[in-house]
Amino acid sequence: MLPTYRRDDGTTHPPLLSPGYRSTVLRAPREQFVLLPHSLTEVTGPLLGEGRVRPEDADLTLAPGGEAQGQRIVVHGQVRDAGGRPIPHTLVEVWQSNAAGRYQHRWDQHHAPLDPHFTGVGRCLTDDAGRYRFVTVKPGAYPWGNHPNAWRPAHIHFSLLGRAFTQRLVTQMYFPDDPLFAYDPIFNSVRDERARRRLIARFDLDATVESWALGFRFDIVLAGEDGTPTEEPHDD
Ligand SMILES: [Fe+2]
Repeated sequence: MLPTYRRDDGTTHPPLLSPGYRSTVLRAPREQFVLLPHSLTEVTGPLLGEGRVRPEDADLTLAPGGEAQGQRIVVHGQVRDAGGRPIPHTLVEVWQSNAAGRYQHRWDQHHAPLDPHFTGVGRCLTDDAGRYRFVTVKPGAYPWGNHPNAWRPAHIHFSLLGRAFTQRLVTQMYFPDDPLFAYDPIFNSVRDERARRRLIARFDLDATVESWALGFRFDIVLAGEDGTPTEEPHDD
């Protein structure tokens, strides 16, 4: 039987055109969408990453020759479907800036240091209960040129494939109480306040590691009324 989803009320996800978020003006589609009905091929698929994801891929702080600089953190959570069911053995990928707010990417020429021991990329598979866990450093805020004096709140990009390619979710996780929330057109392109709150990890004392790392929890729901807001993949 094909899965059924509890639909969100239309306010969870940001509109494709959010004029305050300048690059959406260029990339938002101008034509009506064409609906293609899903068949079994689209809603089922191979589990990706099995046999290719190594345990060390979930630790972004370790690189040949040294450790990443910055505030070490544990980021963990559970991936669930629209019905609240955990999604086991699914690929979770993350990318982020380093602690100084710079990406290791040729387009990022922001005047901040690169960290030779931090690529900013990680991946893991969820366990039997749909849980994932990364060790990383807290990313820095960075300027992004959307408007004068524009700074992105600290964030980690997530990509999940769910049970099939058509369920792919790309989103961003934020940190509690960031003073930049009010000024960020990407965060605020999610219009519903409750939905925006679902993008903010919570500090999790139980996930901290004494004398070593702080802990944050970020649960991800792939669809439905409790869904994590999703976005079109991009670089910001
Ligand atoms: Fe980013």
